[in-house]
Amino acid sequence: MSRTFRLSNGDEIPALGLGTWKSEPGEVGAALREAIGAGYRHIDCAAIYMNEREVGQAIAGAIAEGDVRREDLWITSKLWNCNHLAADVRPGLEQTLADLGLDYLDLYLIHWPVAFKPGVTFPRQPEEYLSPDEAPIAQTWSEMEKAVDDGLCRNIGLSNFSEAKCRAVVDGARIAPTVNQVELHPILAQPDLLASCADMGIHLTAHSPLGSGDRPDVMKRSDEPQPMEHRVVHAIADRNQASPAQVLIAWAIQRGTSVIPKSVNPERIRQNMAASEITLSDIDMAEINALDRAERIMLADFFCPPGSPYTVEWMWA
Ligand SMILES: NC(=O)c1ccc[n+]([C@@H]2O[C@H](COP(=O)([O-])OP(=O)(O)OC[C@H]3O[C@@H](n4cnc5c(N)ncnc54)[C@H](OP(=O)(O)O)[C@@H]3O)[C@@H](O)[C@H]2O)c1
Repeated sequence: MSRTFRLSNGDEIPALGLGTWKSEPGEVGAALREAIGAGYRHIDCAAIYMNEREVGQAIAGAIAEGDVRREDLWITSKLWNCNHLAADVRPGLEQTLADLGLDYLDLYLIHWPVAFKPGVTFPRQPEEYLSPDEAPIAQTWSEMEKAVDDGLCRNIGLSNFSEAKCRAVVDGARIAPTVNQVELHPILAQPDLLASCADMGIHLTAHSPLGSGDRPDVMKRSDEPQPMEHRVVHAIADRNQASPAQVLIAWAIQRGTSVIPKSVNPERIRQNMAASEITLSDIDMAEINALDRAERIMLADFFCPPGSPYTVEWMWA
């Protein structure tokens, strides 16, 4: 049984999961089967990744062939930004469940604290956004809670939410968020968010743990953090006969966060799984912890063009 973290409601989330953003149709299904064969039991999905149907076919195939049972899998998905209005939450979740071929999710997250008008996949004009007043997150959350009541998901949570935004949801919640999925790697270690979310009973999952190097060039900056390239990470990898990616994964798990590296490469999928068995020394951990520069890969500036109701400062305040 692979390592898990206990959530505030007693559920256990597997420490290592497979990321699926940018895993293309035609390759994501094979990656998933490879991962399940290698022992992964946690799959991180989202409607906006546009590949949930193929993910669902791979899950169904793995179950039908006896590789795994549904109850042994942890499937996360996320509500996209155009489904924040009360009437649109349930249809978004139902579409994801239909695409994944599942009757429940283990975890459903609000993908971003940012709302678009219904039907807008990605705004081209400022008028296609909804402001926080037009799409209050408390109303979105209330619909997420109803999905738990109706058995469509076992846990609900947040993604890319700052401490203050988590606090606002927690304070108004009937069913508390159990997870916040955020960018976490040694250059953006977010120790304060980790501690404050722990106080609120919220577990953190680390997205972009390897630096998300396969993002489209338009999303990249020349000065963005590249944790896998850092010389300290390389030195620790050499000391542990491990790869830099394995050091980043082991560090994430050892500090108490679940972690969801994406790969479609069979060798790297297995290598990343093996990282969950690595124990770093206290000195290794301290050296990695010292790399924090509070620098984001994903500023979320793509939601903040002129005229948008959102700003980078608002996002992370
Ligand atoms: N909630 C959110 O807003 C949000 C945002 C970003 C990401 N996520 C989730 O987090 C997951 C992970 O983040 P990410 O996909 O952005 O980036 P990532 O996992 O940090 O990095 C993925 C890149 O690393 C490569 N890679 C994987 N294993 C490797 C290894 N052992 N050695 C060297 N290279 C390796 C992958 O290539 P290959 O595939 O060729 O191996 C790919 O190019 C996503 O897939 C998604 O599920 C969520």
